[in-house]
Amino acid sequence: MSSITLTLLLSLLTIHPLNFCTAHSHFEVLCIESEQHALLIFKQHLLDPSNRLASWASEVDCCDWVSVLYHNVTSHVLQLPYERSMFSGKINPSLLDLKHLIYLDLNGNDFNYTPIPKLLSSMGSLRYLHLSFVRFGGLIPHQLGNLSKLHYLNLGSYYFSSNSLYVKKLQWLSGLPLLQHLDLNNKLPSLLELRLSNFNISGFIPSIPSINFSSLATLDLSLNSFENTSIPFWFQGTIPVHIQNLTSLRHLDLSGNGFNSSIRNWLYSFSHLEFLNLGSNYLQGKVPRSLGKLCNLKVIRFFENTSNLFWVFGLHNLVSLHLFGNQFQGPIPVHLQNLTSLRHLDLSWNQFQGPIPWSIGNLSSLRSLDLESNQINGTVTQILGQLSKLESLNIGLNMLEGAVSEVHFANSMRLKALFASQNRLTLEVSDNWTPPFQLNHLDLGSWNLGPKFPLWLCSQRQLLTLGISNTRILDEVPPSFWNLTSQLTYLNISHNQIYGEIPHIPMIMSSSLVLDVSSNNFTGLLPCISSNVTFLDLSNNSLSGSISHFLCYKMNEPKNMQFLNLGKNLLSGKLSNCWMMWKNLYALNLGKNNFTGSIPTSIGSLVSLSYLHLDNNRFSRKLPSSLKNCKQLVTIDVAKNDFVGSIPSWIGHRLSSLVILNLHSNNFHGYIPKELCSLTSLQILDLSHNKLFGSIPKCVHNFSAMATSNSSNYPFSLLPWSSEYISAPFESQLVAIKGKDLEYSTTLQLVKIIDLSNNNLSGEIPEEVMHLNGLQSLNLSFNILTGRIPENIGDMGSVESIDFSSNQLFGQIPQSMSNLTFLSQLNLSNNNLIGKIPSSTQLQSLDASSFFGNKLCGPPLIDNCTIKDVQPNTEKKECKAFSGVDVDWFYVGMAHGFVVGFWVVLSPLLLNKQWRFLYFQFLDHLGYKLRGLVAQTW
Ligand SMILES: *[C@@H]1O[C@H](CO)[C@@H](O)[C@H](O)[C@H]1NC(C)=O
Ligand SMILES: *[C@@H]1O[C@H](CO)[C@@H](O)[C@H](O)[C@H]1NC(C)=O
Ligand SMILES: *[C@@H]1O[C@H](CO)[C@@H](O)[C@H](O)[C@H]1NC(C)=O
Ligand SMILES: *[C@@H]1O[C@H](CO)[C@@H](O)[C@H](O)[C@H]1NC(C)=O
Ligand SMILES: *[C@@H]1O[C@H](CO)[C@@H](O)[C@H](O)[C@H]1NC(C)=O
Ligand SMILES: *[C@@H]1O[C@H](CO)[C@@H](O)[C@H](O)[C@H]1NC(C)=O
Repeated sequence: MSSITLTLLLSLLTIHPLNFCTAHSHFEVLCIESEQHALLIFKQHLLDPSNRLASWASEVDCCDWVSVLYHNVTSHVLQLPYERSMFSGKINPSLLDLKHLIYLDLNGNDFNYTPIPKLLSSMGSLRYLHLSFVRFGGLIPHQLGNLSKLHYLNLGSYYFSSNSLYVKKLQWLSGLPLLQHLDLNNKLPSLLELRLSNFNISGFIPSIPSINFSSLATLDLSLNSFENTSIPFWFQGTIPVHIQNLTSLRHLDLSGNGFNSSIRNWLYSFSHLEFLNLGSNYLQGKVPRSLGKLCNLKVIRFFENTSNLFWVFGLHNLVSLHLFGNQFQGPIPVHLQNLTSLRHLDLSWNQFQGPIPWSIGNLSSLRSLDLESNQINGTVTQILGQLSKLESLNIGLNMLEGAVSEVHFANSMRLKALFASQNRLTLEVSDNWTPPFQLNHLDLGSWNLGPKFPLWLCSQRQLLTLGISNTRILDEVPPSFWNLTSQLTYLNISHNQIYGEIPHIPMIMSSSLVLDVSSNNFTGLLPCISSNVTFLDLSNNSLSGSISHFLCYKMNEPKNMQFLNLGKNLLSGKLSNCWMMWKNLYALNLGKNNFTGSIPTSIGSLVSLSYLHLDNNRFSRKLPSSLKNCKQLVTIDVAKNDFVGSIPSWIGHRLSSLVILNLHSNNFHGYIPKELCSLTSLQILDLSHNKLFGSIPKCVHNFSAMATSNSSNYPFSLLPWSSEYISAPFESQLVAIKGKDLEYSTTLQLVKIIDLSNNNLSGEIPEEVMHLNGLQSLNLSFNILTGRIPENIGDMGSVESIDFSSNQLFGQIPQSMSNLTFLSQLNLSNNNLIGKIPSSTQLQSLDASSFFGNKLCGPPLIDNCTIKDVQPNTEKKECKAFSGVDVDWFYVGMAHGFVVGFWVVLSPLLLNKQWRFLYFQFLDHLGYKLRGLVAQTW
């Protein structure tokens, strides 16, 4: 929510006579029974996982009902602000009984993309309706036009997938004559502010060319992807000329669109302009010098444009300059020193090189400086020393080096936030250093802070976020540090060699959202964790013992946990049947431990689960059928366990989003169920090293993701919206094809593999397999397959690795195999193949051993098809050839990157430009909140 919206909200709150009973307890508030009743019914139909509405109960005095505001005279319910409560369920018509409700805020709740209920349009007294960030979907009901008293209607969302609302026509807005904050209609003379940010406007045509925007002071059209729409005049590839006459504009935001024109020369006529955001477009060419005449400009944001800078240096009133994510190169311009009013300078995500110029030290008003992700080298000492008003400094992701000592921080009394990770800096301070600052945010990731634990951190009692990952600490955590963590919302101490035990975390970390302790040397039992934690990574330590106390801790309290990684530890014992309260889990990794026993049925409670890794344990019994409730599953990895039974057919019916199914090295037996073929998104199918028999189903050609070489949509998805924090647990996949380690990580969307090796599969290789021409690796080795290699094998245009070894295939190698230009690994050994190996540069360049154990001849074999009898098939079947595709899964804790406002490394994401700018826009809009924390005075 932007500050302007907030201001509006506040003003609405003060204009109207609203009161919480408690605020004016001398007024006798007699709640109106029918309205209390309506609220109770309304509550009944909501799902309220955090029990926020516990106080709405008939036995509780209505004055104490949380979030309800009453009129101080009539006692009517006036406001229901239950924003950000993660409600879901249904909006019950009982709401209509609240005939005096003027303010309804459903911001941040989750109605699972159901349409906005039309009944809202019957709430005629509403003046303020806030539906942004609500997961509603579908057509925005035109009936909202009946809300004739509406002053404020917010249907936007800055987060590009938090709702999927769209509009076709906006005529209905003309029913809202008082609307001040969302409008396109010339019948609305009061319009001061037009915000259509992140609107899905495809098909929407502002039908009135004679729009009277003369009084418009704020125009926010950000985050509308205009490029593909057929809108006649407003939003084509160039900046709309119609904006040209809006000369009273003070706030212009066209960011996040597809504008590709040059920056218009006429912008200079906007002499009142104070805020200009043209970020995240494809603007080209030079910025006209005339922009330098907009002397009222206080805030400029130009992200992701190609532009040059010099015009800026004349704007002496400039307070904020944000040039984030452009393509600026070369040294940081010394002329910046002309901008003496500057308080906020953001040059991040460019390609500035060389040292930080001394002249920046002259910007004595500077409160925040953001140089993140450039190629800046040299030292940081001068900025620290000179900028004594600095509150926030971000120099992360650069090439700064050298030692920073106590002296350098001597003037940093006001520093509240220091983000400096990913440099080559060393902190050299004495053991008993007391810093002059009290930080709220600190990230020194990859600095050299070790080997002792930096005790001065314990002096930072206002810390909210702390990152000291990969800082060469080889020590125990002092107990006073754990105490300090009670108010942290983010703690990352991963990738050190910290040892000792992790204390129980229910008392400490009470407000924590994110805790990453991975890749250290922690030992002992799993700590109990507060239900508030949303992200927990304890992987790659030496934690041991059972998981029961962890899982079943506070059994009745719903857990907020979304990402839980306990992989690579020494945990053992059974999983308790305590998953009922973990409904928010999105990614779960218990892989590489010593767990035993069956998977408890309550795993079926994890209805949000997308990533499930149980590999490399000793789990046994059947996969529980309750798993079919986890319909969001994208990855199932249970490799290297002792699971038995047949492969459940419901995997195909119910888990239609599966991309990775890895069952390798278990004791699954029986047929490969045909139902699996419904998994059209499947990219990795590994059933190797089991006891499967029967034939390979012909329906495999239905694996449509494998049938195309296009990169598929491997879910690049984010966590379901939660108020503070979103995440994409990227999985970096180490896929070893034929002993060659290829790290696919973020290119996982390209990896397509079938491995059915080491089973007892029989029958012929169906020619349908060859239709999977996106497949890169096909391993059918060590089965009892017979028949010929399908003639159409040459259709598998993407295949890099084929292993049919140790079967009973006969006949000749099909000529078409010579078409497989990407083929670099082939193993046909130990079959009954005969005849001449087809000639192609590809096949002849392979190792002769690929063909051993057959009656083949011709290069690369020595036998040139002259001798009749070649060596018989008697070699030892020892083929040290690789044991199938050995998939080693591990998580990259990418989710950290999504913690709004931490500005950590996102480089893998940044490959995708579209995504990148949406992401940054998102940060830009939502990050305010955190930035606000960082520097209250902004
Ligand atoms: C109700 O509240 C309004 C605004 O706070 C106040 O001006 C008004 O006097 C109050 N009415 C009574 C009867 O107290
Ligand atoms: C801007 O205003 C002028 C004078 O009122 C008018 O002639 C011109 O057509 C307008 N331009 C646009 C693009 O609307
Ligand atoms: C910087 O300011 C100086 C003195 O006010 C002025 O002479 C110079 O032209 C300015 N530089 C730029 C690039 O605007
Ligand atoms: C800093 O970077 C610049 C430009 O890349 C280079 O010329 C210079 O040598 C570097 N300085 C140091 C100290 O590495
Ligand atoms: C940690 O906090 C607890 C409770 O506030 C206190 O009793 C204890 O002494 C503290 N420990 C240290 C090492 O500061
Ligand atoms: C931490 O663990 C690593 C890897 O297991 C080991 O090499 C190292 O010696 C351990 N360090 C300490 C201090 O225990």
